[in-house]
Amino acid sequence: MNSLTHGIGILGLGSALPEKVLTNFDLEKMVDTSDEWIIKRTGISERRILERETPAYVLGVEAAKKAIDDAGLKPEEIDLIIVTTSCPDYLSPSISCIIQKEIKAKNSAAFDLNAACSGFIYGLTTAQQFISTGYYKNVLVVACEGLSKIVDWEDRNTCILFGDGAGAVVLGAVEKEYGIIDTELGADGSMGHFITIPCCHLSNEDKEKRLHENKMVLWMDGTEVFKFAVNIMAQAVEKVLEKCNITLDDVQLIIPHQANIRIIDGASKKMGILFEKVYSNVHKYGNISSASIPVALEEAWKSGRISKGDNIVLVGFGGGLTWASALVKWNR
Ligand code: UT7
Repeated sequence: MNSLTHGIGILGLGSALPEKVLTNFDLEKMVDTSDEWIIKRTGISERRILERETPAYVLGVEAAKKAIDDAGLKPEEIDLIIVTTSCPDYLSPSISCIIQKEIKAKNSAAFDLNAACSGFIYGLTTAQQFISTGYYKNVLVVACEGLSKIVDWEDRNTCILFGDGAGAVVLGAVEKEYGIIDTELGADGSMGHFITIPCCHLSNEDKEKRLHENKMVLWMDGTEVFKFAVNIMAQAVEKVLEKCNITLDDVQLIIPHQANIRIIDGASKKMGILFEKVYSNVHKYGNISSASIPVALEEAWKSGRISKGDNIVLVGFGGGLTWASALVKWNR
């Protein structure tokens, strides 16, 4: 909680998804799987995939432009760009610097942040801190993911899960007692080996786990991550509500990271909440890592699921392993 004379909240939202749709039936032709298996075990029917030659940052640029426009700001009024990603097109320049150039936000600082699927809430928290100290006024957080580029398309354990996409928000001053009320961040690096994406180094263990010649691909122990995710999603929601001194009864909507409908379902049961209180679009987009929460948030907002004054909980979990939750009192 802060003692500012204003709140810090979302001034504008935007998202971008590739046009190309990859269905479960398409995947049936690529690996030994079936539409029935994927739907039953994950809830996913299709995902959006970038063309091979198209870099992921184009999605970030589109989402960022829409969010700035929605906030009624000009790109020059953005003070800082934080891009959350686990698969940057380049390590240098950072994706945030590429986006800064493309949207002509010439007065902004820019850096990338990697907290995997929890990245968006880590980004929100970082932005909130910069604004609450008065260091910056308007901060753009872009969650930009091109996971199709780092997935092993011959590994049926992972390739059925992921998709590409981007979501962006502009954060700034809003009415007092609205906006981000509080957040909770966590990490446990001792479980990091359950999801790995090598980049500049490949250990013997990394080589052994991967199927084919291209070893610079995502590998995941799905069962271990699944168990972790169900528990941590429920705990992270409870923690942030405890911090804010409110209960689940006071919450209108929970927007979780969209990894698997069974994780969302399992955590909802653990918390004793009705599934109707939880937003999901995993069937359409699969797991788009840090972009899944802002894409779902914009969709929920545009479809009328959120009204001014609603208490919304965002909750993410993933590689690192990391987790994060936020309570947002909707200010629009
Ligand atoms: O965003 C980061 C966080 N990531 C996650 O949250 C993902 C967490 N994990 C999961 O969502 C699930 O563990 C998976 C969807 C990855 C796997 O579901 P599961 O119910 O845990 O299946 P499983 O790994 O226990 O596999 C069951 C069986 C295995 O066959 P056997 O050994 O029982 O004969 C797998 O080989 O299903 C087989 N299998 C498949 N069959 C058809 C695994 N992948 C596939 C597939 N199609 N795509």
